Amino acid sequence: MPDVIRLILDDHEWFRSRFARLAELRADPQAANEVWLGLAARLETHASAEEEHFYPALLQQVEGSEDETRDAIGDHDEIRQGIRRAAAAEVGSDEWWAGIQDAREANDEHLDEEEHDDLPDFLRAASLELRQELGARFAGFEDEHRGARGLSGADKDPDEYVSEHGG
Ligand SMILES: [Fe+2]
Repeated sequence: MPDVIRLILDDHEWFRSRFARLAELRADPQAANEVWLGLAARLETHASAEEEHFYPALLQQVEGSEDETRDAIGDHDEIRQGIRRAAAAEVGSDEWWAGIQDAREANDEHLDEEEHDDLPDFLRAASLELRQELGARFAGFEDEHRGARGLSGADKDPDEYVSEHGG
């Protein structure tokens, strides 16, 4: 049974390696675009999976986690804004790379915060059984929405999210 924390960390490693690969493909926009489309879709699938199956549990399990959750949802929105900026630009243009760079910077900051705060807080509070139950749901969500299928990519309001999910 997968632990949701392990699954999130595995995705983070994959994101880092794909962004590093993209930076090597600066001179080959078509190859870069293939990497980017896969990466952008998975960033959305991952963020949505966390919003469905990780942050609601963090809010329930860890007292005072409203601010870190608000921050995380806001970061997801900034990643989405970078994805939309790139999607609206011509592949290989400066504007396209700028959108990718926006997503990369928002993602780097966000992974650091999750790895230093949200994931350790949850690990301390939640039982292995709960982490595995959430892991199964998280993996199921990522399978169902592979390639960002069925996901709108729209921003979520951080305050509304926290009041809706138990803050
Ligand atoms: Fe996240």
